[in-house]
Amino acid sequence: MSSRPPLLRLVYMSQAHRGMPLEALSSLLVKARAANEARLITGALLYQDQVFFQLLEGPEAEVRALYSKIKQDPRHFGCQILLDYQTNERLFPDWSMGHASATPAQVRAIPGLNGFFTRSPSAFHLDAKDVNQLLDLFREGLLTTNPA
Ligand SMILES: Cc1cc2nc3c(=O)[nH]c(=O)nc-3n(C[C@H](O)[C@H](O)[C@H](O)COP(=O)(O)O)c2cc1C
Repeated sequence: MSSRPPLLRLVYMSQAHRGMPLEALSSLLVKARAANEARLITGALLYQDQVFFQLLEGPEAEVRALYSKIKQDPRHFGCQILLDYQTNERLFPDWSMGHASATPAQVRAIPGLNGFFTRSPSAFHLDAKDVNQLLDLFREGLLTTNPA
């Protein structure tokens, strides 16, 4: 009998409401990290040009419950799931929610991502290869990681 891998990996993108200040993001992250730790959720959040790109990993029920809450959060809109599957390992096992931003030059340097962060949410589309490329950059520390 084969059992399902125990973790859910979910990646989505969304559009921040205009004028969401950086301080609002850091207070969001402080709360998110404490809550995620309690639910065994880890992941990473990229914020660039008013676009969020977030990876959530953890027990399936916890990740799905969190994503339904996040989807309804009035600070952003247009959530689109890019990846959603079971896995055995976490990409960011040590981060209750890592945070990074990318410079426009970094974004331009990834062929599949050119223009990606300037699209409107209805046009968000990234194939799995592009998503993984972005996550790799994050993991390799090639994006500007922010302590906040
Ligand atoms: C882009 C974005 C990412 C978020 N990420 C998380 C997260 O990783 N963990 C978390 O607990 N809340 C996160 N939130 C906040 C949730 O939407 C929600 O406000 C929070 O879970 C508190 O919900 P509650 O007041 O119902 O407990 C995020 C919100 C936004 C806009």
